Amino acid sequence: MEVRLLTHKKEDTALIGKLCASHFSSGDVVLLKGDLGAGKTTFTGGVAKGLGIKEDVISPTFNIMKCYFDGSLPLYHIDAYRLEGQNIEIGLDEYIEGDGVCLIEWPMYIESLIPDEHLDIVIHNLGGDERELIFQSESSNFDELLSALQEVRL
Ligand SMILES: Nc1ncnc2c1ncn2[C@@H]1O[C@H](COP(=O)(O)OP(=O)(O)OP(=O)(O)O)[C@@H](O)[C@H]1O
Ligand SMILES: [Mg+2]
Repeated sequence: MEVRLLTHKKEDTALIGKLCASHFSSGDVVLLKGDLGAGKTTFTGGVAKGLGIKEDVISPTFNIMKCYFDGSLPLYHIDAYRLEGQNIEIGLDEYIEGDGVCLIEWPMYIESLIPDEHLDIVIHNLGGDERELIFQSESSNFDELLSALQEVRL
């Protein structure tokens, strides 16, 4: 199942993240794909808001991972960009499929750690503030979320 949505400003991308948050549950793994500046961290910020997390989500590029525990679910935000070509045996697997929802930017750099059951989100920068978000999953875990996204009108 695949759902495509267009956003015209960053707040809309965050809003979609917020909507997704209400469907996420413990152990969910979400892959965020797209070029630099596509909107992966912006989306994650919306998820954090939806989980009731107070802190603003910042790009964890220099930390690889940042954890947020003050929401309805723990949020693990991984940015694997700096792990390209590195040894990835640094214990991330404890957080992926852990007790919270795990959002992963640049998942291709830690491919061997990614479980089969995950939600794929690809963000295309269409120029200016236009973005296309493509949601896709092979796992029935995300059916309800994908159905809800189909109803979104921005
Ligand atoms: N419709 C939109 N959705 C999301 N972001 C948008 C949109 N329009 C403009 N932007 C801008 O694009 C940028 C997206 O940055 P963001 O850090 O979320 O990207 P990213 O995909 O996480 O990049 P990186 O790979 O460098 O981590 C922000 O500056 C944001 O303001
Ligand atoms: Mg980012």
